[in-house]
Amino acid sequence: LFSNCTSNKFIVCGHRGAMGYATENTLASIEKAIELKADMLEIDVFKIKTGEMVVFHDDDLDRITNAKGKIEEYTFDELRKVLVAGKHQIPTLQEVIETIDKKVVLNIELKGTNTATDTYRIIEEYKKKGWRNKDFFISSFRVGELQKMRSLSTEIAIGLLTYKDPIETIIKTAKELKAQAINPYYKTLTAENVAVMKANDFKIYPWTVNETVDIKNLQGLKVSGIITDYPDRIIR
Ligand code: G3P
Ligand code: MG
Repeated sequence: LFSNCTSNKFIVCGHRGAMGYATENTLASIEKAIELKADMLEIDVFKIKTGEMVVFHDDDLDRITNAKGKIEEYTFDELRKVLVAGKHQIPTLQEVIETIDKKVVLNIELKGTNTATDTYRIIEEYKKKGWRNKDFFISSFRVGELQKMRSLSTEIAIGLLTYKDPIETIIKTAKELKAQAINPYYKTLTAENVAVMKANDFKIYPWTVNETVDIKNLQGLKVSGIITDYPDRIIR
């Protein structure tokens, strides 16, 4: 159980694939993260109007595609015609799982509403085809979605994403979720709050750490790994 969270190896998690080198959350970005030898890679997921789970970061399409409006209001057929950065299709969660093909752990950030149930259903489908719980890691800022995920599975690794919450709240919420990890905003970490997280047996995967000086500082604090746009910048 949770064997993607129990090793003491420093985990390099590619952010939205390897978005420092390729368009975020595309299959090209996933392939780049694998090529750069990330141990884990993070993507964001939404559930769209026709029920499919798709991999995308923003609530709306405006910033990086040739379309506009809320992604959750699009049908699958409409979304297939949308181009990201002029050339990529928005992948489905299944396309990402198959592209990774168990080579690295997939950290699925539940971004939209009502994402836990369908994400879990898809994981269960792949578990019938040879994937294991340890090929997946679920993260979110949405405590409600994480609660739903934990009620569906006691065996899937969960990481609570946090921004500027007080450490007491973080620990309380993470314990209630039976989370394995806390994924904090890296600038909030101190020797003191890292010690509290560790004393409570949580792995710590801060986001999103790109500068070498910050990476070194966090390695000095002995965090469990790092979420980064540049998976090759980590000195192991
Ligand atoms: O998983 C860490 C990070 O992805 C959280 O922020 O906005 O990039 O999804 P964001
Ligand atoms: Mg994310």
